[in-house]
Amino acid sequence: MKFFVDTADVAAIAELNDLGMVDGVTTNPSLILKSGRDILEVTKEICDMVDGPVSAEVVATDADEMIAEGRKLAEIAPNIAVKVPLTWAGLKTCKTLTDAGTMVNVTLCFSANQALIAAKAGATFISPFIGRLDDINLDGMELIADIRAIYDNYGYETNILAASIRSANHMKDAALIGADVATAPPGVIKAMANHVLTDKGLAQFLSDWEKTGQKIL
Ligand code: E4P
Repeated sequence: MKFFVDTADVAAIAELNDLGMVDGVTTNPSLILKSGRDILEVTKEICDMVDGPVSAEVVATDADEMIAEGRKLAEIAPNIAVKVPLTWAGLKTCKTLTDAGTMVNVTLCFSANQALIAAKAGATFISPFIGRLDDINLDGMELIADIRAIYDNYGYETNILAASIRSANHMKDAALIGADVATAPPGVIKAMANHVLTDKGLAQFLSDWEKTGQKIL
């Protein structure tokens, strides 16, 4: 499973990128707001740093304006994936941009039917939002499994990008189901390395080592 980082925080992306853990980046208007940066500037900086797809989201709601915004975002760098909402205008934009060779990430997906119609429109990525479904007592991971089954039934090439990931367990479950990509905040990716028994075991080893009176360096 590929790891995308869900942030517009350049320093946080750089830290994970140095460890080879960044296969791509996703942003959205809320993350741009959080960064306090200009969308075109910060997106260019991220595209220069990361080899994989960098999602940048349109904000228009009608198709013509959305297509124009998408084309402008696509000019930032060859690794831009234009992010469009799962609306009829978004699907029109998806078809127009993918036909022109631009990667498109169709976002705000909350049902298997939405994922199916996005694949028909040629989406490069479909972003089902796990956490936001869990928030309203629905099962986000069940949606990932349904989309996996449907895409595999018919050989759709649209990549399943598990989004709105809130925990390290979400990463594990998405990987078990077979999501192609998971996008997560930097803190969630780092939390995947944590285990209480690792901490306990290390404390014991260090305590015993001190008693030996030895040094390695
Ligand atoms: C992904 O592309 C989305 O921007 C993101 O995962 C949304 O996550 P949230 O529901 O935690 O805001």
